[in-house]
Amino acid sequence: CGIVGYIGFEDVKEIILGGLEKLEYRGYDSAGIAIANNNVVNVIKEKGRINELRQSIDKSITGNLGIGHTRWATHGAPNHINSHPHQSSSKRFTLVHNGIIENEDELRQKYLNGTVFTSDTDTEVIVQLIEKFVNDGEEVPLAIRHTMSELKGSYALAILDNEDMNTLYAAKNKTPLLAGRGSGFNMLGSDAMAMINYTNSFYEIEDKEFLVITKDSIDIYSIYGNKVVREPYKADIDASDIEKGTYPHYMMKEIEEQPFVVRKIMSEYSDEDGNMFMDPGIVQEVRGCDKLYIIACGTSYHAGLIGKQFFEKISGKPTEVIIASEFIYNMPLLTKKPLFMFISQSGETADCRAVLVKVKEMGHRTLTLTNVKGSTLSREADNTLLLHAGPEIAVASTKAYTAQITVLSILAALVNNNKNINIFKELSKIAYIMETLCDDKEKYKELANKYLVNSRNCFYIGRSMDYFLCLEASLKLKEISYIQTEGFAAGELKHGTIALIEKGTPVIAVITQENINLNTRSNIKEVKARGAATMVISMRKISQETDQIIIDDANELLSPLATIIPAQYLAYYAALLKGCDIDKPRNLAKSVTVE
Ligand code: G6P
Repeated sequence: CGIVGYIGFEDVKEIILGGLEKLEYRGYDSAGIAIANNNVVNVIKEKGRINELRQSIDKSITGNLGIGHTRWATHGAPNHINSHPHQSSSKRFTLVHNGIIENEDELRQKYLNGTVFTSDTDTEVIVQLIEKFVNDGEEVPLAIRHTMSELKGSYALAILDNEDMNTLYAAKNKTPLLAGRGSGFNMLGSDAMAMINYTNSFYEIEDKEFLVITKDSIDIYSIYGNKVVREPYKADIDASDIEKGTYPHYMMKEIEEQPFVVRKIMSEYSDEDGNMFMDPGIVQEVRGCDKLYIIACGTSYHAGLIGKQFFEKISGKPTEVIIASEFIYNMPLLTKKPLFMFISQSGETADCRAVLVKVKEMGHRTLTLTNVKGSTLSREADNTLLLHAGPEIAVASTKAYTAQITVLSILAALVNNNKNINIFKELSKIAYIMETLCDDKEKYKELANKYLVNSRNCFYIGRSMDYFLCLEASLKLKEISYIQTEGFAAGELKHGTIALIEKGTPVIAVITQENINLNTRSNIKEVKARGAATMVISMRKISQETDQIIIDDANELLSPLATIIPAQYLAYYAALLKGCDIDKPRNLAKSVTVE
């Protein structure tokens, strides 16, 4: 979920709605806004997108104080009743919440017997509890801090009190929140993008902090009420980076930015003489560990699988890649001197953060690879490497994936003093190949039309590096076109899954590795013999009767940077031709800040 708040001199409607649109990547099951004026708080909420909310707001409602929310449903169905903002019984307090309260049942029993709840959410417990403590005689700031001390779980909160139109309250624990500093106004947001049109000066908020915000001041307190002194920082985001320009979808824009992103990363990680350069402390730390543990989710996990190959094959460093949400319950036996690397586009994924907190407690060293400077995982790890991909808006990740692979390859090469591979030369070559692949859009559209649009399911098959690529290629296709797609180790297909192949089942084989070329080709024959409609993405033309996307010769280890491009386009066009919402696929959120 995403939250926004504003207090100042302008009408809040557009400020909050515009901010929420920037945060829609965090969820879009429902949206709501509260506008305060003359001791009245108007709450408007709608199931669905911000646009639907915008249509339903009465233009005559105005105010200079407001909060808003875009929701990714966790507790309670995504309907009107469960949408935020939520209000206390007397309607004195109104709040929006991102996170999950784990002890809501206990709190209801302990403090709120007799309270009539109007929703199924954990959030309503928070607002009712604040009202209860105020009714018991506590001042509002104390009541909020008291409530915070009772809550177990995660929250970023923005709170209105209709008896005080000059104050916006906020609180945070485990989910992201920034305060934006303006002149004659101040703001709150789940990230900087939500506020960047108004300010680029932000305060980071730490866990268990409480904020009292007026149009002229932002006061940060600990949960115990002690004032915290903190300097704001300037965010170097350009508001134009987050516009779609002439592209029909953010996903298309982000696919096409990839060759530039590879070049940008090369220049960011160069010294004045154009030689590869990264913080020597970080390189030394990777060199010095006895094993690298990569922790990530989703697309970033798939980049981690490719990274493992770089660290093992280029730098000779044993590496294990673990899905963040599995780590806590199924921790591998750790070596004596591990280094934990977190790969996360957003730097906010709660599953990763849970692991970071745990391994820090255990006293281990940590490194975050993220696209977002100042993000939670970046702030809390010992070191950070930035991806420099620019803001990624489409929910399905594209340029962050290739940026992750690029940064990992440079780090792996530096760890080995660039001995095994001239990584810059290979990356330059591949950036060019990526560009030429982007020129073939019409072909990918035809292929998506021919093989995918009318298909219920699909398989991507490959071996070695191609197998890891297939995992990401299949995730792209399934998440935006809803075609059930699996990425499979080509050799494993015959051990069971081949039973699913029927006449016309699309099977896309990826072949870039010389040593397994013949084996994967045999697998194509096997599925073809059983009726599959086969297509090949390969570095060589192969003489089978099948549609082919040919990739120019690239370094085999780096080949995923190239092969992913047609796969991203196939997903894009399959979704487009099926009429799906490409940038905001159903049920997903770009940044999942709950475990
Ligand atoms: C969500 C997104 C995925 C993303 C994953 C990890 O599930 O829908 O696209 O790969 O989170 O996100 P992160 O920001 O940690 O890379």
